Amino acid sequence: MKIALLGYGTVGSGVYELIEKNNESIQENFSKDVRVERILVNNLNKYKTHKAFNIFTNSFDELIKEDFDIAIETIGGIYPAYDYLEYFLKKGIPVITANKDLIAEKGPSLLEIAKSNNTILSFEASVGGGIPILKPLQECLAGNTIKNISAVINGTTNYILTKMFNDDISYEAALELAQEMGFAESDPTSDVEGYDAMRKLVILSSIGYKKNIKWTDLPIEGISNILKSDIDYAHSENYRMKLMAFSEDMGDGIYGTVRPVYVTSQSKYAKIDNEYNAVILEGDAVGELMFTGKGAGKFPTASAILGDLLDIVQNKKKHPSYHYQDSVHIHQYYPRKSK
Ligand code: HSE
Repeated sequence: MKIALLGYGTVGSGVYELIEKNNESIQENFSKDVRVERILVNNLNKYKTHKAFNIFTNSFDELIKEDFDIAIETIGGIYPAYDYLEYFLKKGIPVITANKDLIAEKGPSLLEIAKSNNTILSFEASVGGGIPILKPLQECLAGNTIKNISAVINGTTNYILTKMFNDDISYEAALELAQEMGFAESDPTSDVEGYDAMRKLVILSSIGYKKNIKWTDLPIEGISNILKSDIDYAHSENYRMKLMAFSEDMGDGIYGTVRPVYVTSQSKYAKIDNEYNAVILEGDAVGELMFTGKGAGKFPTASAILGDLLDIVQNKKKHPSYHYQDSVHIHQYYPRKSK
């Protein structure tokens, strides 16, 4: 199985290193020789001392002169990632991506392309890092009507809020640490302003409620305005602050919001610290379920990608993994009191 790896940042290098590190068990588990054949990067000079430098290229046109069985995209952002994915899908080559911006924005059209070319687009890694959440939601919980979803779904902001609370450090210092740890996006604005969480909520909700969610005027508030005094207040009241994403099927539409909330220290969310994420959802048959684990970082995200890879290699899915219905929901979800 020849893999084209697009991007070699935190996640891309995690995929490469994980395949190297667990090579023996992966080859055995996958019953195939799984190999990263080419790596596409922007700046070749950065990788001159890499032991596999000969497989790096900075040209997509060069890369596609070769044949691949699977493409893994870890570049992020909408373009050129969309064009690259479209190219592979149109050739019938399965694609795995961790790109939540792209899936939240263009997921339905990419899925259409995958479907009409009888191939697969997988994106478990786009939500919740290493937490298996999209597949369980789509497959194991298929018999349920999902009523609501609430989540701590951005590792960077959760890490910042944890550090501010536990270590009494400033917002800026905590953000710098989150960047050093490889949790934050290259431009952390989308993390700290709540957009990253919002995109993940769109993906989770589209799959959970089986609707093509296109929210406009969604109330979103991030944590960039959180002050030390807000954290001091949390200490004094025995609260914790979390950046939460909520969505709910209200009958007349799906409502959603992303905002910082105080939770009591007994709350389930209070125990979700650092880069950990948690998704709590309620299904009409199963009741409440909670999924938790590392939601950001190199190896947790690579772990989710390799899970998708195994599915593809084992030919488990002949068709696109996720289906969207055509319906547009434009709704606001009005601020909810913290629990
Ligand atoms: N920047 C993201 C986060 C990475 O902090 O959650 C994982 O999607």
